[in-house]
Amino acid sequence: MNTTINTKKATATSAKTPMRYTTVLIDPPWPTGQRGKLGAERHYPLMTIEQVRALPIPDLMAENSHAYVWCYPGTRSIAEETLRGWGFEFKDEFVWGKDQMGLGSYFRHAHETLLLGVKGKLPFRFHGQRSFAMLPRRSHSWKPEEVHIMIQRCSPGPYLELFARRPFPGWHVWGNEVASDIRVPGYPVPSDAHFEEAANA
Ligand SMILES: C[S@@+](CC[C@H](N)C(=O)[O-])C[C@H]1O[C@@H](n2cnc3c(N)ncnc32)[C@H](O)[C@@H]1O
Repeated sequence: MNTTINTKKATATSAKTPMRYTTVLIDPPWPTGQRGKLGAERHYPLMTIEQVRALPIPDLMAENSHAYVWCYPGTRSIAEETLRGWGFEFKDEFVWGKDQMGLGSYFRHAHETLLLGVKGKLPFRFHGQRSFAMLPRRSHSWKPEEVHIMIQRCSPGPYLELFARRPFPGWHVWGNEVASDIRVPGYPVPSDAHFEEAANA
């Protein structure tokens, strides 16, 4: 797989539907603490923080939009900075509690955090949503699908998930392990080939 990434490119396009999304869910392959035999590196390629920051999120998103970004204690502050760099104001966070104890040099981590950023003026739709939930853990890095439902309750579509590994009904997805609905210039993924084939047909 060609994983050469050109962080200079800044325009995102969708071959299926050229559109701007109102809500995006992003689960980046953060590099922090993920090298070595216990890290995510064993499961999928990592990106540098610079590559994550350079994602053309502003080109994908509507003027008034919500962005949700997954992070863990080692990337908590960089994720917030990254969100700001994409033009979102950090507003709040949701914590996914896991029933299994993980790793950690100080506390043993049993949670991951979903940051919420808001761009422009887009009301949060549901004010009864708790900021914490214990949700089942599945395989490595698998985020609970309950979170998509929670997001749909709180934020309007059209919805986009970046670094998805599975399709989700009603959402456009993009990533190197899924049949992507869009292309992100400068960030090649295997399913880009389908757009090229369609263009040449
Ligand atoms: C943290 S995982 C996402 C897990 C996903 N949210 C889930 O619930 O299963 C990060 C994903 O980003 C993918 N990835 C890594 N480098 C990539 C790249 N350059 N372009 C697109 N996807 C990439 C990985 O293969 C992995 O599927």
